[in-house]
Formats: sequence, C-alpha cells, structure tokens
Amino acid sequence: MVKKLKNTLQYNAISQRLIPRYKYTSLKLIDKEKLSQTLYLMRFKVLENIGKPFPPQFIMLWVPGYEAIPMSVALFDEDNNALSIVVKPVGPTTNYLVSLEPGIFMGMYGYLGKPCIPHGKKYLLIGGGSGIAPIMHYAQYISNHNESGIIDILYGCWKYEEIGKIPLILQNYCSTIKTVCFSDHCDYQGTLIDALIKTDLKLYDIIIIAGPPGLLENALKIVKMDEDLLARVFLVVESMVKCGVGFCGECIIKGTNKLLCVDGPCFPAKELLYVI
Ligand SMILES: Cc1cc2nc3c(=O)[nH]c(=O)nc-3n(C[C@H](O)[C@H](O)[C@H](O)COP(=O)(O)OP(=O)(O)OC[C@H]3O[C@@H](n4cnc5c(N)ncnc54)[C@H](O)[C@@H]3O)c2cc1C
Ligand code: FES
Repeated sequence: MVKKLKNTLQYNAISQRLIPRYKYTSLKLIDKEKLSQTLYLMRFKVLENIGKPFPPQFIMLWVPGYEAIPMSVALFDEDNNALSIVVKPVGPTTNYLVSLEPGIFMGMYGYLGKPCIPHGKKYLLIGGGSGIAPIMHYAQYISNHNESGIIDILYGCWKYEEIGKIPLILQNYCSTIKTVCFSDHCDYQGTLIDALIKTDLKLYDIIIIAGPPGLLENALKIVKMDEDLLARVFLVVESMVKCGVGFCGECIIKGTNKLLCVDGPCFPAKELLYVI
C-alpha cells in the first residue's frame, strides 16, 4: 500500500507535504439510482488504472459545463475499476450532476486525501445525511479486510423519506444497521446525538463519525468527557475544498495548520478538540 501511495504522491517544498498528482482521468457514468428523497447513487467506470481508493478518500469530479467538486468515494469495485458516489443535490453543479444519464463521460482527479483506517475489531460507524458516503466506503473496506470484526452502523436523517435504500446497501457490509430520524418508522427517534447517548460506546474499539458540522461538534462534546473514549473516536470533516491537492489553502482547518484535502478528511477527535 505504501509503495502504491508513493507512486501517486509528490513532495511540495512550499507546503512541506506529500501531495497528490494533479492529473485528470476519464470516467463513464454507467448507472444512476435514486436512493432516497435526497440522495442518488452514481456508478462510474474509471477509464484508466489509477489504483484503488482507501477510506475516506475523495475525488474532484469535473462535471461538464460546470466545475470540479469534491465527492467522497462511497463504494469501489476493484474487479471492474468502478467507483460509486452518493450525491445530495444542493446547488447548480450537484443538481446538474444527478440529472445526467448513463453513457456520459466526465473527468476526475484523485484519489485525494489521506487514507485513515484505524485498527480495531469492533467498529461503530455513524453517518448523517450525505456523510453516509465515506461511511459506506469504510464499511465496505473493513468488511473486506477484517473478517472477524464487528461493524455496527448508525445512519441518521431528519425525515424517514431520506433513509430510503441506504440500509439495503449497507447491510451487505455490516453486522447491524440502525436508522435514526424523527419518525417512528426508524429504530431510534430523534437525532444521531440522541441515538449516540443511548448507545453503549464502551463496546467499540473504534468509532468513526461523518456528517454535517453540527453533528461532529455535538458528538465531540459527548466523547471529550471520557479520555479513553476520545482516543477511539475519529471524525470525517467537510469544509470548502477548491484545488483538492494542497495548493490553495482554502480547506485549512481553522485553528490548526492542517489542510483537509491532504491531511484529512479524517482526523482523530482529540486533534479537533479545540477547533470544532
Ligand atoms: C471532502 C469532501 C467530500 C464531499 N463528499 C460529498 C459526497 O460524497 N456527496 C455529496 O453530496 N457532497 C459531498 N461533498 C459536498 C459537495 O462537494 C458540495 O455539496 C458541492 O460542491 C456543491 O456544489 P453545488 O454547485 O451543487 O452547490 P453550491 O451552490 O456550490 O453550494 C451549495 C452548498 O454546498 C456547499 N459547498 C459548495 N462547494 C463546496 C465545496 N467545494 N466543498 C464543500 N462544500 C461545498 C456550500 O457551502 C453550500 O452550502 C463533499 C465535500 C467535501 C469537501
Ligand atoms: S483545497 Fe486547496 S489546499 Fe485544500
């Protein structure tokens, strides 16, 4: 893995970091599925061999006529060199993206960000909204590489309609999946934080949380009370990303000298204690 990573990285003397090469690769959209009221799964064939992504890496996806936007890898099919992303349409580029039909060609560069795969036997993976994308990748990767391990997932949204088919996909890669929303159709009613409070966190070696800033902030408030627990928690952070390769500084994590696009997007919770 280290050799493969070095091949796709180069040293930037200014930022004193290993940075990814900035080179576009073509993609062909091969499948699109509406997963829920707010999320789409889009599957692409990668038309060049650029290696495989490790969680929670992301790509810069160039959408024709629009711009390049950061998207987490949600699933990777090594046999077919195909990657899937989960898209929540929120603005012009993502709305156009989900309107595209299979057959269209796009561009990407990546895989970007630092692989972060904390070692353990019992994992709790928590995803809120489109934060479920990197959680899917973690579940797929860990279930393929850690056969004796336990993977429990909490997936939370505001409304039941947003849950959709996500649990059906995730059940292939985990021991249990519990849904969280404000409807009594979900396993837990309320927010992911309400569900977190009801979960016995001592059971887990590793807890990985991905989702909107409010979720990460409130989760940090809970886990920071217990030093042992804090050491086992990892947060997948989202911020503004422009270049994705460590050049522009746009994605700096405030209060640190860390760049999300090369040092993240996953950080040990203890490193973010005083910054989120
Ligand atoms: C590392 C990373 C991974 C991401 N993974 C996913 C994913 O798997 N699925 C998904 O649906 N979205 C993901 N996003 C967010 C996605 O990139 C933005 O929603 C998208 O760029 C919005 O573009 P737009 O033109 O449709 O909307 P805009 O009109 O540009 O913006 C709409 C909203 O999205 C936010 N946003 C816009 N651009 C960015 C940006 N470059 N980075 C972060 N937030 C932005 C804005 O603050 C605004 O709130 C990820 C972002 C990052 C940084
Ligand atoms: S997005 Fe440009 S340095 Fe990270």
